[in-house]
Amino acid sequence: MKTASLIKLITTKVKIAHISDLHFSGKKDRRHLADFDRLLDHFNADGVNHLVISGDLSNNADPGDWHLVKDKLKSHGFYHWERCTVLPGNHDLINLEEEMRFYNALNPLSVFGKWSFDRKLAEFTLFFQELISGDEKGDKAFPFVKIINFSSLKIALAALNSVYPWYPADNPLGSRGSITPGQLRALSVEHVLASLKGCFVLGLCHHAYRVYGTDSLIDQAFDWTMELKNREEFLEVLKRIKAKLVLHGHFHRFQSYTVDGIAFINGGSFRYSPQCYSELLLGEGSDFEQTFITLP
Ligand SMILES: [Fe+2]
Ligand SMILES: [Fe+2]
Repeated sequence: MKTASLIKLITTKVKIAHISDLHFSGKKDRRHLADFDRLLDHFNADGVNHLVISGDLSNNADPGDWHLVKDKLKSHGFYHWERCTVLPGNHDLINLEEEMRFYNALNPLSVFGKWSFDRKLAEFTLFFQELISGDEKGDKAFPFVKIINFSSLKIALAALNSVYPWYPADNPLGSRGSITPGQLRALSVEHVLASLKGCFVLGLCHHAYRVYGTDSLIDQAFDWTMELKNREEFLEVLKRIKAKLVLHGHFHRFQSYTVDGIAFINGGSFRYSPQCYSELLLGEGSDFEQTFITLP
């Protein structure tokens, strides 16, 4: 009897797998693709309800790599609105070499760079539209809120784009992040807040709230290029929407930390640790368990 009630307790929890920073680099990436198959097989065998991929699907902003990810998600049954959510990372939207060549050869006006960035972001949202709006022909963009009703729990995924365009002085490596004021405002409006009532709310973005460095001056200089510029404004919105958890990637380390009572989980990098992922078990109320899992 005791065992039966324990099983019931476990199965009523919602299981979310979180991976990040896949950095695919073309079809020749066979080992990497095989590792992805293995992980997705494991997620199915393990009863994962929803998969979150928090950006940097591609290494060089090549839509061909988005295709590879989409095909794998489809073949493993994850390419459905209620089963998977993907976000763009800086490596999906910014090709550093191209940006620099364009800047040096044509025109130093940043407005041209911003146009190409906006186009790339639109291309990404269109490409993964089915996972954003549930409709292949939809037209939703970031931010979006996905509310999924599980039998035991209603979860809300509030997804934001934190990739900030490349600028030679302000974002020289393209890896600094920022969330536009428009996105932050859109999540704070009354009808969105009302729709989140009774949900377990998770915030999603690519960039880390906190970049863990060391006391070394070289590391500190590096941290500056990786940071989320307006993290305090982001934190205010997270509090307003009553987010309990935030899932992100970018800073290729598996780590968890808490800021003002909100748990942040860094999903590390599938590219560098293809056998590792973060597992979340969400229960009723604000109850959750998080574990970094390593497959044998
Ligand atoms: Fe990355
Ligand atoms: Fe990144």
